[in-house]
Amino acid sequence: MKIKRAVIPAAGLGTRFLPATKSSPKEMLPIVDKPAIQYVTEEAVQAGISSILIITGRGKEAIENYFDVSFELEKILEERGREEELAVVRKIAEMADVFYVRQREALGLGHAVYCAKNWTAGEPFAVFLGDDIIFSETPCIKQMMDIYDEKKCSILGVMDVAEKDTSKFGIIGGKEISDSLIEVTNIVEKPSPQDAPSNTAVVGRYILTPQIFEEIENTKEGIGGEIQLTDAIKSLLKKEKVYAYRFQGKRYDIGDKLGFLQATVEIALKREDLGEIFKQYLKELLKKY
Ligand code: G1P
Repeated sequence: MKIKRAVIPAAGLGTRFLPATKSSPKEMLPIVDKPAIQYVTEEAVQAGISSILIITGRGKEAIENYFDVSFELEKILEERGREEELAVVRKIAEMADVFYVRQREALGLGHAVYCAKNWTAGEPFAVFLGDDIIFSETPCIKQMMDIYDEKKCSILGVMDVAEKDTSKFGIIGGKEISDSLIEVTNIVEKPSPQDAPSNTAVVGRYILTPQIFEEIENTKEGIGGEIQLTDAIKSLLKKEKVYAYRFQGKRYDIGDKLGFLQATVEIALKREDLGEIFKQYLKELLKKY
């Protein structure tokens, strides 16, 4: 079965980015001129996924408005002959079929993914965490979909991290099949370096089989008092194979202030309209620091 659906949990409170996230969703913070959530949506669309379910919560209405038609704005742009801007605005509403479900309480990532149970209709699906923006020639999720086509089981997107950072991630343990592929035999949410099975971390890309929902149902509160997706994957391991894939690409944690700044600067430098002038500016600026 092909992966046709993607789930984007976006109900989190964004506490790492207060006060900006007090009244606007962290997913709408702009990186240059596009909100963060559009980068992950574009990754899904580029991989051929056109049905996207966003798990929202209270205060996230701006996300729904963003992917909707903006009647007044479009009318004004049309009247003023601003064709270029009009095309940009219209494309957003047309890029994918976007659906929404509300997670009524912030009970953790596992619980958020569980909200997608009915919508995924018994099919395997992709999960994108909006804090992780990944740039690569082939979209990260497409690289993982290719492995899924071969293995027909859950695939986790992973990268190696510094040992001191294991407590920020879900960490896997397993058998290295090749440089990029690992058969997962263990997974632990945010272990200390002493307890970590390796330094290979799950970043925000998953392909999951529908069996995950039964595992989430049986998952008790884990670290932080939350229903952890990692714990559900750990129990999935007892029933199905799970592989981890070291994707090609660069990942930014934009939920972190430094990661957000890094993504902003690097994306701006890559932009045709801004790159050169911004690079000159940075060079001059850095002489003073
Ligand atoms: C979540 C997951 C964790 C994963 C991480 C990737 O943690 O629970 O397993 O490694 O995303 O960014 P969070 O960063 O939401 O605390």
